[in-house]
Amino acid sequence: MTSPVHQPVEMNPAILPLDWLLGTWQSDEPGEGRFPNIKPFRYLETLHFSHVGQPVVNFAFNAFHADSKKPLHRECGFIRMQPETNNVAFIVAQNSGLVEIEEGEVTGQQLNLRSHTIARMSFAKKPHVKEISRVFQLSADGRLEQRVSMATDNQPLMEHLRITYVRSS
Ligand code: HEM
Repeated sequence: MTSPVHQPVEMNPAILPLDWLLGTWQSDEPGEGRFPNIKPFRYLETLHFSHVGQPVVNFAFNAFHADSKKPLHRECGFIRMQPETNNVAFIVAQNSGLVEIEEGEVTGQQLNLRSHTIARMSFAKKPHVKEISRVFQLSADGRLEQRVSMATDNQPLMEHLRITYVRSS
């Protein structure tokens, strides 16, 4: 990782439990999206996790249409850890006009999160999201998986997204 003057910066020990996320990840095959009342879809996604020496992981997720490669969903934010614990806060803004804080725990190479706070712009599309749960898991073969479930005005908590990535840097 580099600073504005391009000096390598050491990782802050506070985020060591999340070091397995750092780098750039590309979906190895299209992810699968589903939810009642929408057409199941496939998508590509790139994840970037980085740090600048602060006790914070910076991230940006960019999803694309699997065939046209058109940009679709985008998210960016920060991950912080509560000192001396495994507690994690995942602070995220989405291009749909949703902002949220998810909280959870890192255990080994798995990060389990559940929405703690959700807010949206006044003219956000319906249905509104009421709850989100998200898991990142690094498997023994070096692939990273992300699964996202959500509850909306109309539906209880159920899976929306499932995708695996390979590290590209
Ligand atoms: C935490 C992240 C996300 C949230 C909270 C979210 C939320 C939603 C919601 C609320 C809907 C409408 C569901 C309904 O009509 O019942 C939806 C639909 C959809 N989402 Fe997501 N989404 C997320 C991530 C993504 C990602 C990464 C993609 C990748 C391309 C994606 C693609 C879609 C598509 C294609 C639809 C269907 C749109 C339509 O038919 O109009 N979403 N999402």
